[in-house]
Amino acid sequence: MLRIAVLVSGGGTNLQALLDAKARGEIPHGEFVRVIASRPDAYALTRAANAGIEGVVVSRKSFASQQAYDDALLDALRACRAQLVVLAGFLSILGPAVIAAYRDRILNIHPALIPSFCGKGYYGLRVHEAALARGVKVTGATVHLVNEIPDGGPILLQKAVEVQPGDTPETLQRRVMEQAEWVLLPRAVEQQCALWEDRLQNPEFKLQIV
Ligand code: GAR
Repeated sequence: MLRIAVLVSGGGTNLQALLDAKARGEIPHGEFVRVIASRPDAYALTRAANAGIEGVVVSRKSFASQQAYDDALLDALRACRAQLVVLAGFLSILGPAVIAAYRDRILNIHPALIPSFCGKGYYGLRVHEAALARGVKVTGATVHLVNEIPDGGPILLQKAVEVQPGDTPETLQRRVMEQAEWVLLPRAVEQQCALWEDRLQNPEFKLQIV
C-alpha cells in the first residue's frame, strides 16, 4: 500500500471524497497518512481529524524564502514517509525541490478541462468565473501529474460537465465538483497507487526514488 499525503488549503471536499472512497474500499492500494494544510483555519484539517488522520500546518508565510518553505514541506512529507502526494485544493506553489523529490508522484486536481482556464492565476472560483465569462458550454475537471509548469504536467483523467443557463460561478463550481472532481480524484489516486506499488517492487526503481 502506498503511503499518501494530501495537501490542502480550504474546505477539503476533495479530501473528503478521497476519505469516503477509501472507507468504501475503493482505494485498496493506498493509505492516507497525513494531511498538510497551507493555513491553520483550513476546514480540511477538521475533516482529517474526524477521520483519525494526522494534520499539520506548513504555511508559506512562516518562511522567508521559497527554498526554506520547500525544505519544511519536504520535512513534513518525509516525516510521515509519504510515497505519493495529492494536491486537493492546494493553493500554494510547490517549489522545484519538492517537485524533483517526488517526480511523477504528485497529483493535482484542477477544476477545468486543461489546457483551458489553467496556469497562473486560475484557481478555485476564478476558474469558473473565467469559464462563464468566455461563455463555454462545457467545462469539467482534470487530474494531472505535477511538473515545473503550473497545470502543465501529463494529464491522467478528465471529465466534462455541462454549463447550464443561469449558472453562477458557485453553482458551476458545485456541479464540477459533484460530477467530476469527487469522482476523478479517488479514481486517479487508486490508479497511481497501483502503478507505483508495481514499480516499487522492482529493486532498481526503488533505488532511483529514495
Ligand atoms: C477545488 O475545486 C479544486 O479543484 C480547486 O480548488 C477547489 C478546492 O476545493 N483547485 C484549484 O483550483 C487548483 N488550481 P476543496 O478544498 O473543497 O477540495
